[in-house]
Amino acid sequence: MDCCTDVPARPQERGRAGTDFQQTVSQLLWASQGIIHVEDGVKLRAAPSAGGTHPLVVYLEFSSGGCPAPKAGLYRYEPAEHALESARDASIRDNPTRAALDQAVADEAPATVVLAADDERTRRQYPGHGERYGHMEAGHVAENVHRLCESWTLNSCPVSAFADAELADVLSLSAALEPLYLVSFGNRSEER
Ligand SMILES: Cc1cc2nc3c(=O)[nH]c(=O)nc-3n(C[C@H](O)[C@H](O)[C@H](O)COP(=O)(O)O)c2cc1C
Repeated sequence: MDCCTDVPARPQERGRAGTDFQQTVSQLLWASQGIIHVEDGVKLRAAPSAGGTHPLVVYLEFSSGGCPAPKAGLYRYEPAEHALESARDASIRDNPTRAALDQAVADEAPATVVLAADDERTRRQYPGHGERYGHMEAGHVAENVHRLCESWTLNSCPVSAFADAELADVLSLSAALEPLYLVSFGNRSEER
């Protein structure tokens, strides 16, 4: 392996939605928390989880961006069915953007993956390490999303500068869930 050429670059720019965006979204979500393998009845996911405790919940916030599907709104990814459950059926774009300190990248990308953690799930098995493991796992998931975006020549950008309580509120997260990390993504513009 040539470490200088085999690790793809990570351009972090806003993107746009194209006609094949629904398929893109489906595969990115699968790479985030999709069930890739069942071994001895244990469902293994696309990203590692300490002790298989799986504290992360993945949401997709979608602003349409000229693409008809999925419809603008907020969705929760359900790994067991590899399906999106509607959490809010109207665009909520302005609210998470405000919570993300009005960053243009969060505002202008057609879609954002939101990673939230229920640390208690991990803490039950690893007292004292619940929070730490959730943060590590969010990094694994975000990296999967970035790498896949790069291999498809999409843009993606990690966003962690946000007001925690405000973001949890606009996403209507349950009290158990803490928002950890956003990854905004979209198709790369032609001129790049
Ligand atoms: C944990 C983390 C949080 C980040 N949060 C933001 C953010 O809120 N807004 C943003 O524009 N970029 C964010 N970034 C992207 C960094 O600004 C970017 O990685 C840095 O400028 C270096 O650029 P490079 O990744 O292209 O080498 C974040 C990156 C990481 C790893």
